[in-house]
Amino acid sequence: MCAKVTLSVIKADLGSIAGHHMPHPDQLAVATKILAEAKQKGLIIDFYVTHVGDDIQLIITHNKGPDHPDIHGLAWDAFKAATKVARELKLYAAGQDLLSEAFSGNVKGLGPGVAELEMEEREAEPVVTFHADKTEPGAFNLPLFRIFADPFNTAGLVIDPKMHDGFVFEVYDVFEGRSVLLKSPEEMYDILALIGTPGRYIVRRVYRKSDNLLAAVVSVERLNLIAGKYVGKDDPVAIVRAQHGLPAVGEILEAFSFPHLVAGWMRGSHNGPLMPVPMRYARVTRFDGPPRVIALGWNISNGRLIGPADLFDDVAFDETRRLAQNIAEYMRRHGPFMPHRLGPEEMEYTTLPAVLEKLKDRFVKSEEVKVVKKHSDMLSGS
Ligand code: F6R
Ligand code: MG
Ligand code: MG
Repeated sequence: MCAKVTLSVIKADLGSIAGHHMPHPDQLAVATKILAEAKQKGLIIDFYVTHVGDDIQLIITHNKGPDHPDIHGLAWDAFKAATKVARELKLYAAGQDLLSEAFSGNVKGLGPGVAELEMEEREAEPVVTFHADKTEPGAFNLPLFRIFADPFNTAGLVIDPKMHDGFVFEVYDVFEGRSVLLKSPEEMYDILALIGTPGRYIVRRVYRKSDNLLAAVVSVERLNLIAGKYVGKDDPVAIVRAQHGLPAVGEILEAFSFPHLVAGWMRGSHNGPLMPVPMRYARVTRFDGPPRVIALGWNISNGRLIGPADLFDDVAFDETRRLAQNIAEYMRRHGPFMPHRLGPEEMEYTTLPAVLEKLKDRFVKSEEVKVVKKHSDMLSGS
């Protein structure tokens, strides 16, 4: 058996065709070429390149462990090349997520989203990677809770002795940059007290309690917090290991059968349903959405990526998609009103403050409004 294998999912929005819709095939081709060369040289074991909405997704396996400068450097090169294509074709928002010109060993903090999971390959290693567009990392909070803590979702929590002790959730506070480890089921209510605020507390990792096996990882990069201004939504990725003492693939997917409301959608400023779709529908159209997620099923075989299985490409998710469409319609009817539009705290990182700034000096104490009114009446002669 080879050394530990790391599955790295690294993504970025580097520009797309006709708005924030989907990348150009030439961008995917150039990223593929760079990863293929790295595979040939033996730097990586295997790779797959795809997209969801306007985000290019690099799925890479290697033996170098998480946060390795060679792997991050490779992803950076692929993203730079895809940006170059975007610039040549004058695609929209070319190079959007590359917030810095200079790479310094790790793509974290520079714009791209990263989820990396190092594993001791089991006899068979089924894994699901999730890739979402037009939403934020906390969008995975609800499904991950369902998968690893809710016996009404995951029968194995009750039935399978290997899972019966439960799981440990690492919850990350994106504002403070700190994490807390909480056990389920014992501390389930504490977990929920935090992760019910998905804009701040993110389920970052999940471990099996009985042996500390790392079962899930989520990208936690919040672009707007890094850049200090609105530069698009974070559009997160997640890796979840499955089966044989972990939730079954069907239990993992079950958590996405409810299209819960997530923050993102148009201008990163609206709540909308997270719609599970097959790869062919991983394009965002209506009101730049609605937010979508694809699920790719893999078996890791001595580091090789066997797959993907396009897991939401199934009629079993048709009703979820239909419900998502109805919710999308219902939410859209609110137009610019909350709770469709996000609350003021979240809007701070959008372009709304620039609009509000203009009105700032026109506010007067309410008694004075009468005076102002009288004055303007006099002027207009009424
Ligand atoms: C959301 C997103 C889009 C854009 C919107 C406006 O993450 O990327 O919804 O925010 O299309 O884009 P600009 O301001 O570039 O015209
Ligand atoms: Mg975008
Ligand atoms: Mg995107």
